Amino acid sequence: MNDAQSACLELRGISKRFGSLGVLDDVTLTVRRGERRGIIGPNGAGKSTLFNIIAGELPASAGSVHLLGRDVSRLPAHRRARAGLARTFQTTTLFPRLTVVENLVLALQAHSPERFHLLAPRSRYRARDEEAVALLDRVGLAGCAEVLVDALGYGEKRQIEILLALAQKPQLLLLDEPTAGLAPADASLVTEMLKRERGGTTMVLIEHDMGVVFDVVENLTVLHHGRVVADGPLETIRGDAKVQEIYLGGNL
Ligand SMILES: Nc1ncnc2c1ncn2[C@@H]1O[C@H](COP(=O)(O)OP(=O)(O)OP(=O)(O)O)[C@@H](O)[C@H]1O
Ligand SMILES: [Mg+2]
Repeated sequence: MNDAQSACLELRGISKRFGSLGVLDDVTLTVRRGERRGIIGPNGAGKSTLFNIIAGELPASAGSVHLLGRDVSRLPAHRRARAGLARTFQTTTLFPRLTVVENLVLALQAHSPERFHLLAPRSRYRARDEEAVALLDRVGLAGCAEVLVDALGYGEKRQIEILLALAQKPQLLLLDEPTAGLAPADASLVTEMLKRERGGTTMVLIEHDMGVVFDVVENLTVLHHGRVVADGPLETIRGDAKVQEIYLGGNL
C-alpha cells in the first residue's frame, strides 16, 4: 500500500480564519489506518476547530480533508459520518430523558439500513437492544441499561458517549478531551476503554492530561497558535526542546 492508500485521515494545508482572527495556519498531517494519534497544545491553539473542520461542521478557509483516500472537503457533516467518521465532544451530547439503552439503540439505528423507520415500534429492534446491552456489558455498565441518562454520573455519561461512538464502528474516531472534568477514578475508566480499542479503531485524541496521552496514543501532533510545531512518535516529542518550552513546561 502506498501512503495515500494506507492513510485513514489526511489534512493538506488546512487554514481557518474567523474574520480577522487566524486560528489554523497550513495544518498538514497524516494519520494511518489503525493509528492512535494525540493532538496537544495550549488552550486556544485551534484543536477543537480542527476537529470541526475534519468532521465537516465548519468549512476550512483553505486546504483539503481526505478520509480513506477520498477528498471529503465538500461533504456536509452527515455525509462524512456515513463515510465512517464519528466524534465525541468536550461537552456531553446524550439524550438526557432517554435511558442508556435507548441512547445506544438510536446510535446503532442511525447507522443501519432501517435508519429512516423512526416510528416503528422498538420491539421490532429486539436484536439491536441485545447488541446495545452486550456493548454495555463490555464496559461493565450493563446494570445501567434501563437508567435515564439524566440520572447518571458525569463519568458514566462520558463512558456511554465513547461507547456510543465506538458502537458505530467508525473508520475514524475523533475524541475531544474525553477525560476533561472527570474525577481521577472516572478518567482511568475512560482511559482503559480507549486502551482496549488498541489495534482496532483509528483514533485522534485531543487531550490535556499527559497521563492519558501517554497511556493511549502512539504518535503526537503539537499545535501552537494554529500551526503544527511538532509531529512524531511520543518519545521524539517528549524530547523536543521546542515543545518543552512552549507547552509542557519541562514536565514531559
Ligand atoms: N466560531 C468561532 N468564532 C470565532 N472564533 C472562534 C470560533 N471558534 C473558536 N474560535 C477561536 O478560535 C481559537 C481556537 O479555538 P479552539 O476551540 O479551536 O481551541 P482549542 O485548542 O480547542 O482550545 P481548548 O484547549 O481551550 O479547548 C480561539 O481563540 C477561539 O476563541
Ligand atoms: Mg478545545
